[in-house]
Amino acid sequence: MPSSTRGSGSAERKTLMTSQAPLLSVKDLKVHFPTQDGIVKATDGLSFDLESGKTLGIVGESGSGKSVSSSAILGLHRGTSAKVSGEIVLNDTDLLTISDEQMRRRRGKNVAMIFQDPLSAMHPYYTVGNQIMEAYLVHNKVSKREAKTRAIEMLDRVGIPQPDRRVNDYPHQFSGGMRQRAMIAMGLINNPGLLIADEPTTALDVTVQAQILDLLQDLQREFNAAIIIITHDLGVIAEMADDVLVMYAGRAVEYGPCKEILTHPEMPYTWGLLSSVPDVTGDTDARLIPIPGLPPSLLNPPSGCAFHPRCTHKDKVKGNLCKTEMPELLPGNRGPEHTKRCHLADPEQIYFTEILPEIAPDLVEEFAEVNPDGSVGDAEPVRSSDAAAEAEEKKI
Ligand SMILES: Nc1ncnc2c1ncn2[C@@H]1O[C@H](COP(=O)(O)OP(=O)(O)OP(=O)(O)O)[C@@H](O)[C@H]1O
Ligand code: SF4
Ligand SMILES: [Mg+2]
Repeated sequence: MPSSTRGSGSAERKTLMTSQAPLLSVKDLKVHFPTQDGIVKATDGLSFDLESGKTLGIVGESGSGKSVSSSAILGLHRGTSAKVSGEIVLNDTDLLTISDEQMRRRRGKNVAMIFQDPLSAMHPYYTVGNQIMEAYLVHNKVSKREAKTRAIEMLDRVGIPQPDRRVNDYPHQFSGGMRQRAMIAMGLINNPGLLIADEPTTALDVTVQAQILDLLQDLQREFNAAIIIITHDLGVIAEMADDVLVMYAGRAVEYGPCKEILTHPEMPYTWGLLSSVPDVTGDTDARLIPIPGLPPSLLNPPSGCAFHPRCTHKDKVKGNLCKTEMPELLPGNRGPEHTKRCHLADPEQIYFTEILPEIAPDLVEEFAEVNPDGSVGDAEPVRSSDAAAEAEEKKI
């Protein structure tokens, strides 16, 4: 598992999610919390698609709205004061239009979640086996004995040794890694089409983290589940994700195929995230550059581009645009799949001449070798002009 994303090798198997109808389609999702001080716009117009068998990585600083957005997919804001709007279409059903009972039936069966801290997500008074069995019994008309057999099978499948014995253990008798494996077993026991993993490896040491990510990938292939993985760690994104959605202040600020975003990021906030990842590849000239300032208040986000108070590139945009006008999430020059929310006219030029030489000088040479114009040879996506030519050809 890479701890640095400055190479893009692990992203090689990734593909674009455009070939089949999405399993999940989120459109203009808003989750607003009315508070005494005003409305907290935790998620403010989020849209993305996800196909079966694919992984979407959601990344952003603390408080950017990652968990609130994914909780909305599970219907966890129901019965609270939160105002949720937009569309969350899973298997052709808009989850925002169904009853609480219908949502309860889908939760755990069609969509399941694994959390950062399985110890707090599991009940300390019940055995691990009982909790996994319960997840199965809720959705299947089977006897307790059958459910236990299935729980043991799943514990075995996620790599718990002696599962027929460990099924009777309590959560505190499992190590952190084993608890996370048990949570994955619980999440996947009903073979859900969609699994949401919210910081699933943050509490684990790097070796166990790598094992858990490998396990998730193996199980994804086996069960063909779509996965949303939420993380602060761009290394996890590089390892796992087909597509990446970068969130800032409740909105997507950059979205597209993982390989594309990690090799040709176009939004200064994404540059900031990449620049603040320690490089363990041994390049001693690489600099670690933290993003200045703090994430904004979602009660009163900055005008224009929400990132402008922290952006060191806003002076490259003419006039006062960054402060006055919120950029739309639009494709740049690299094809329709890669969208970003930024007014900069030539972000690629800035990235390759100003950012990359600072954060990964070794890659500048590597990239230049591959492609003298600064683009990465095998990472080259369809450019707008190619797409236009293709469309023209089809018309003929
Ligand atoms: N019930 C609530 N009432 C008011 N504000 C809330 C509520 N739940 C979440 N928020 C706010 O919504 C924002 C987004 O929270 P969220 O938990 O989604 O962040 P996150 O991106 O998952 O952060 P982290 O990486 O720390 O988990 C935060 O500013 C949080 O304070
Ligand atoms: S729109 Fe302006 S402030 Fe926002 S990221 Fe782009 S350059 Fe920076
Ligand atoms: Mg969170």
